[in-house]
Amino acid sequence: MKNTVLAALAAGFAALLPAAAHAEEHEEGAPKWSIAIHGGAGTLDPDRMTPQQRADYEAALQLALDAGAKVLAEGGTAMEAVQAAIIPMEDSPLFNAGRGAVFTWEGRNELDASIMDGRDRSAGSVTGVTTVRNPILLADRVRTDSPHVFLMGEGAEQFAAERGFEVTPPEYFATERRREALERLKAEALSALDVDHKFGTVGAVALDSQGNLAAGTSTGGMTGKRWGRIGDAPVIGAGTYADNRSCAVSATGWGEYFIRVGVAQEICTRLRYAVHVKALEAQLSVPWDENGPTYIVHASELAMGPEIFQEIADEVMAEVAELGGDGGVILVTPEGHALYSFNTTGMYRGRANSDGMNEVAIFGGEDGADSGNTPDH
Ligand code: GLY
Repeated sequence: MKNTVLAALAAGFAALLPAAAHAEEHEEGAPKWSIAIHGGAGTLDPDRMTPQQRADYEAALQLALDAGAKVLAEGGTAMEAVQAAIIPMEDSPLFNAGRGAVFTWEGRNELDASIMDGRDRSAGSVTGVTTVRNPILLADRVRTDSPHVFLMGEGAEQFAAERGFEVTPPEYFATERRREALERLKAEALSALDVDHKFGTVGAVALDSQGNLAAGTSTGGMTGKRWGRIGDAPVIGAGTYADNRSCAVSATGWGEYFIRVGVAQEICTRLRYAVHVKALEAQLSVPWDENGPTYIVHASELAMGPEIFQEIADEVMAEVAELGGDGGVILVTPEGHALYSFNTTGMYRGRANSDGMNEVAIFGGEDGADSGNTPDH
């Protein structure tokens, strides 16, 4: 009897799995497409930002959000939307990615980026590139046009040259503000956090109208990084992850902690199993006879509101905070929920969907997104 019940349960559970992923079909009432972006998290205080600075950041975020949303509204893919949203942020000197990236200890701008396609979990990453204007495009080219996932430094640039990427002079990426931050860090023996106040990494996550997810992240890392330091942004599973069975995540923050927690994949994995547990609970709640459950619950009958996904993202970010790290994440689910979680006072962010949502925000609480658990440093 027990075996029969277990077999029936397993069969019922297995039947739920493909449906639980439900990447191919949208639930009724759910947005057809959805996108979220970030331009970094950190110590952001409205009293320390002039109205002009605030307007500049909001305009830059809006430009990026609109670029990604336009792709999705016109039926483009999540992969295309993620790149469309990240490129303007890489081109803007306001963010720590592409032009405006922070300086290494040696006074260079070394860029990292990664991208992942939730359809097949194909991924591409580059680290330490200095002459590629839009590293996110190079990361995608690694994904589509090389047998590898992760390329570094000179090799990545050789690959870029062979694939026809224009060589951008390294001076293009340098800004005075970032150079001064490096000088101050060195002169006053400060940490990157003292001079950066925020991480400024950029990222985007998207769900397209075909039900596919994608995530991408791009950064200059942390001011004064040395010894070839690599943060989480180009590390698949830490700063970026996308899987149609669960969610797409892009992170910003103190990379070492995000690598240690494996933040992006951890959120996706917990989310995937939360759906399975919910399915199992529902299956166990229907009447059973000697052959097992009398009714097989379909995934479409499971009410998976945004709260459970928010809770999972907050839990993982709380683990980052417990270890002493800070930062934030954006995520989008197959149901089209676009969510944030950050343990800093603010995160440059925005989200839009096919139901008319379109908003950008900077400080905690502005759009209902709280700054969660703040680490005690
Ligand atoms: N999160 C970006 C970095 O730590 O490099």
